[in-house]
Amino acid sequence: MDNTEMKQIQWFPGHMAKTRRLITANLKLVDAVAEIVDARAPLSSRNPEMDRLTSGKPRIVLLNKSDLADEKATQKWINYFRSKGAEAVAVDCKSGKGIKNILPSVRGNVLRELMEKRERSGMTGAAVRLMIVGIPNVGKSTIINRLAGSKRAKAEDRPGVTRTKQWVKLDDRTELLDMPGVLWPKFEDQQAAIRLAFTGAISDDILDTETLAMKLLSFLAEEYPQSLKDRYKIEPDAGDTGLELLEKVGRKRGMMISGGEINTERAAITVIDEFRSGKLGRITLELPPGKEE
Ligand code: G4P
Repeated sequence: MDNTEMKQIQWFPGHMAKTRRLITANLKLVDAVAEIVDARAPLSSRNPEMDRLTSGKPRIVLLNKSDLADEKATQKWINYFRSKGAEAVAVDCKSGKGIKNILPSVRGNVLRELMEKRERSGMTGAAVRLMIVGIPNVGKSTIINRLAGSKRAKAEDRPGVTRTKQWVKLDDRTELLDMPGVLWPKFEDQQAAIRLAFTGAISDDILDTETLAMKLLSFLAEEYPQSLKDRYKIEPDAGDTGLELLEKVGRKRGMMISGGEINTERAAITVIDEFRSGKLGRITLELPPGKEE
């Protein structure tokens, strides 16, 4: 989805109300909810009302883009969500890692009781229905395509298909409901918004690129200094400001403008792009609350 479009939708209360209604109305049609989050910022990339909206439904959290996240942190997040009563699995749609664990985990863990009940009453043939939700850019379409393979592409090619909500039949035993409403992220929390801007999930223009890169560099110097040493061969000094770090990167990369000044704008674009594409290594932007070691 285009970022500008997303921003407009986010701020339009009518859309929020519609999405809320869609979720509430469709919950009764499904057995469980799969919530996709970005493994690099699992809380910041959640819809703030998701717990309330789906309360009472068994839930699985899919920590997607785990190829870009710090593995140890991802394990902490899995433990965190499990401690809150949801199942959680790490998924990487780039390589497909974790995809094959989703449905067995839904049947074996999330819906174990329902499966046992169906077994006892001889209803094992009934399909499991799963609602898929997630804020834009967490990889909802990619996961659904990975799960559905060619079946989904065929359904989309059919002309005149109503797109208000979309059931995707995976096999005789599983159906996914791809919720069409746009879920908004936590934009009232500024730190969360900044983390989402780092990942590219929300529009870059909440902050200008240089400010964004400076904030990212300060975070990296604090939490992942090795990534800066490895990628840019710079030594972050204690107390370096974001601007100083950005200048160090620009200088090392020879990004100069006439008069010997450093082109901090170019350096900022490089840092942001390289973070988003994983060139700075596997980085997680937030840890579960109250569990820092
Ligand atoms: P959405 O439906 O939730 O809005 O997200 P979508 O599937 O469109 O995915 C958003 C972007 O995230 C896409 O990149 C997609 O390729 C990427 N992505 C999804 N899952 C993963 C993952 O596990 N790891 C990584 N590294 N990236 C993932 P894009 O740049 O928008 O498009 P493209 O480069 O795929 O063309």
